Parts: sequence; structure tokens; C-alpha cells
Amino acid sequence: MSDTPRRALSSLRSQRWLAGDGMRPFSHRQRLQQRGQDRDAFLGRPVIAIVNTWSDLSPCHAHLRERAQSAREGVLQAGGYPVELPALSLGEVMVKPTTMLYRNLLAMEAEELLRSHPVDGAVLLGGCDKTTPGLIMGALSMGIPAIYVPAGPMLNDRYRGERVGAGTHTRKFYDEYMAGNVTPDEWIRLEQRMTRSPGTCNTMGTASTMTAIAEAMGFTLPGASSIPAMDSSHPRLAWASGRRIVDMVWEDLTPSRVVTPDAIANAVVVYLALGGSTNAAIHLLAMAGRAGVPLTLDDLEAAAKRIPVLANLFPSGDKLMEDYHYAGGLRALLNEIRPHLKLDALTVNGRTLGENIAGARNEDPEIIRTASNPVAANGALAVLRGNLCPDGAVMKPAAASPHLMKHRGRALVFESAADMARRIHDPALDVDENTVLVLRHAGPVGAPGMPEWGNLPIPKKLLERGVRDMVRISDARMSGTHYGTCVLHVAPEAAVGGPLALVQTGDLIELDVEARRLHLAIDEAELAKRRAAWRAPERPYSRGFARLYIDHVTQANRGCDLDFLMGTEPTPEPPIY
Ligand code: FES
Repeated sequence: MSDTPRRALSSLRSQRWLAGDGMRPFSHRQRLQQRGQDRDAFLGRPVIAIVNTWSDLSPCHAHLRERAQSAREGVLQAGGYPVELPALSLGEVMVKPTTMLYRNLLAMEAEELLRSHPVDGAVLLGGCDKTTPGLIMGALSMGIPAIYVPAGPMLNDRYRGERVGAGTHTRKFYDEYMAGNVTPDEWIRLEQRMTRSPGTCNTMGTASTMTAIAEAMGFTLPGASSIPAMDSSHPRLAWASGRRIVDMVWEDLTPSRVVTPDAIANAVVVYLALGGSTNAAIHLLAMAGRAGVPLTLDDLEAAAKRIPVLANLFPSGDKLMEDYHYAGGLRALLNEIRPHLKLDALTVNGRTLGENIAGARNEDPEIIRTASNPVAANGALAVLRGNLCPDGAVMKPAAASPHLMKHRGRALVFESAADMARRIHDPALDVDENTVLVLRHAGPVGAPGMPEWGNLPIPKKLLERGVRDMVRISDARMSGTHYGTCVLHVAPEAAVGGPLALVQTGDLIELDVEARRLHLAIDEAELAKRRAAWRAPERPYSRGFARLYIDHVTQANRGCDLDFLMGTEPTPEPPIY
């Protein structure tokens, strides 16, 4: 129990359900006793939800049932009453068309699960890409004390003596397979590699970026974000988080006290120092929007210019998450970028970020680089502007090819992912290494859900000639585990009439990353003529959540949240009669 003043039992929201002599509290207590415990199990105790995104189709979360048990034991030891609530699991690879379509659904579900039940605090179990922002967005909007337990990265793998990373090497090996350098037998053998255990992708992809951001924002216990899923430290983390949330409830340590402008600033710094996934730009904007903290693409761009990339991890570097954990993990990295941090920011353990990183040691400066020997002086993110992306587009220079950073090429336009899949490997396709591949109708509204289609495959005939990268432009996203000169998140997207909708095959496109410029080289009169002739495409869904999403999703430069969920306007507590 901490020394912080403890709030009164009567102020806990669960007491609205459980305390008193009326028929409703009677039936609530009666129903809880159906679980086989008497009233002493829950009366006078904070009720803690363990929100669990486990499912059989989310292998990254395969161990979260056991971790929920550890969290439960922690809650019980600290004098709370644990209740497990399942939530949308969002296994990144299995869910189609994309988990991004459902991030906001998870956020809504988490918020409403917590609101509609008699709970005082929450342990959030997630980790695969969208579950971290989804759960945190929901918890921010609900506003009761909450602590995040990331699933942790899967174990490292090696193939022919080399480290191989989930996601990153899938694309690498596939390109070699298409180029004829990997045999069909070897391709089948490779299927068993790279995913050696439960846990999230072991590169600095979206999952690892987002869990690090959660820790930097103060939403996890110190050091949580890099603990390998199968390390015995991991159940201890879940147990300790279960213990801690009970005190957080007594202290009324709500997310709004943790996720402040300083916490968001720290999250931005960590994202960039890690050379994290471009997806994090969208999720950061969305989480800041839920916290009521102003944040724009321009803020990210300004920070990206001054923050060096220090984490030598795939896809920007050549190591994996397990290496990074042994090197000291996020606490060590935070220590290296101390001058850029707001050290007084409060975290869920009741201490400041500065206190949490005191004494952190960098055990391997080859993996966690120092500011004097960075992986890149900057380059985690570039925000581009120009007549092709008036509201911005992003790319990750650290994962792109230096020879393509300034490029002028002829556009080859694909109207949709289906069009691209149909034609990209056609031997008759009119394409060479200087062509700029353009994919549209792959954005938040157009796809819908903005799938990770932005890393367009290199045409087979170019792979066979040794080409491994090309300039690719889309209103889609790209997996954080992937690499390449891919301009992503073009806003506004084509489906809502953004200029990307007006590009024609054969147009010249100019990319200048140094100048942060993306330009369609046609004159204004021609552009105006095409704009006047543009008609909105038919929307692919007329019912269900996808319909709600299409009608309310914001563009990438605003975080792709649903417009009616942004901001901090409170929702009333549910009436109990
Ligand atoms: Fe779950 Fe990569 S697929 S983290």
C-alpha cells in the first residue's frame, strides 16, 4: 500500500452497484455470489477489470490467459476483486481487411465495457499492433484508473546463422522467392521460422513501437515494453500490474493525470528515437486526441528533425527485440535521450519518468546507441507536403533507399489493391526501376480502414533484374516491420477527392525528402479540369460497423479516430434503477 492519501470506499463507482439495501444492490451481490464466493470476496474492495484481448486467432496474445491469471493474483494480494472481461482480440495478420478498421471498435468496446460494469480500475492486456492504441484510447475516454500490460515480443529466431525478424524477413524472403533465389522447398521451410513463440513481432514494428510509447506515456510499469513474452519476468509484470492497479484506484490515479502534454511529448520522443513504425504517427494523433492534448503532423515533423534514431533494430537496424531487452530496453534508451524528455511526467507507478529511469544502464551501446553514435542523426519520420498531399503524407527515411530520396519518375497508377494484385507481376506491365508506383482507394474511407498495402510489391520482372526498392505512393499504411521508399498516409485520400485521385499513369511525380516535398508535375489548369470531372467512388459497405466507420472516420493527419469519439467531453455514468 502506498503512502498517498486513500479515497473513501463510498467514492468507488462499484459501490453504486454493490452498496445499500435496495433490490438492485441485492441482486448485484447475489449474482456475484453465483461465482462461488460469498460477499466478503468483493465487499469493501475495489473491483478491477482485467480486459483481455486473448483469442485463438491472435497468436501474439496466446499467453494472455495465463497473464490474466497472474494479474488476478496480484489484484487479490493487494485487496482488490478481479473480474476478467474479454475484448476484441485483433490479431494483426488474421483480421481482414485490416485490424485498423477495428481499432476504434476496440476503443469503443473497452470504454463501454468499463463504463457499463461495476469496475473501479482496469488492467489492460494487449500488444499486437492495434490493441495498444485501441485499449488506451478506450481507457482515456472512460477515465478510470488503468494500467497497460504489453504482451511482450516473441523470441528471436535465426536462419542460416542470421537473425530473422517477424514481418521484415517475410517480405525479404518473398522477394527472393519471386526472384527465383529461394526454392519452393525452402519457402515451405521458411514458413516455420521467424515466429518462434507467442508474443508480438520481434522487430521495431508497430507493436513494439506502440508498447514503448505506452511505457513512455507512463501507462505501464517501468521496463514493461521490452520484456520477452516467454520470460519469467513477464508473468511477474502482470502480477505486479495487478497489485499496482488496486493502489491506483485508492489513489484515484486516472489516465488524465498520466497522459498529459508532457507525457505525449515523451511518447513522441521515444517513437522517433526508436525509429518506430510510421503507423505510430496515426495512433499518437488519435491517443492525443482522446486525451485532449493538441498534436499535429507538424509537431511530429519538428521533433523528428532533432531526435536521433538510437535503436539499432529491424527494420531500420539489424537487431531484434530480445537483444534490445538484454541491452537494457526502454529504460536504457530513455536514459540516453534524457535531455529531450519531460522527466517530471507522472507514471502509473506513482513516480515520475525521471525517477523510473534513475540508474538505468545501457548494457550494449551497439544496440542502444548513444547520441554521439546514432543509427541516424534523424530520419525516423518525414512529413511531406505538396500538391499531391496538401494535408500531409509520411515516410520513414531510415528504412528507405538513399538513392531514391530525391526522385522524379513516371506514375503507374493502380486504382485499388485488387487492381494492383491483378497486374503488378504481369510481364507486359510497362514499368522500370524509375517508375513511381501509385496505389489509391486504400485509405481510411476508400479501403476502408487504411490497410497496410502501402509497401506495394516490386514487379516480378524487376525483382529478377535485381531491383529491390522503388518509390511507392499511396493513401494506405505500411507494416512497421517493412522497409522501402514508401510514401504513405497521403491526405486527403483519393476516396474523398484528394489529389491522389487525379493522378494518371504517365504523369511525372517528384519526391524530394530533404525538402519534404511531394509534387505532381502537371499544370494547375489540367489539375482543375481533372478535379471537376472527379466523381466519388461507390462506398464498399452500406451496413454494419464498416458503414459507421466510413461515415465518421477522420483522415490520417487527424489520427483516423471516429469524429464523435475525439476530445474529452465526459459521458454520464449509467443510471442504476
Ligand atoms: Fe501481432 Fe506483429 S502480428 S505484433
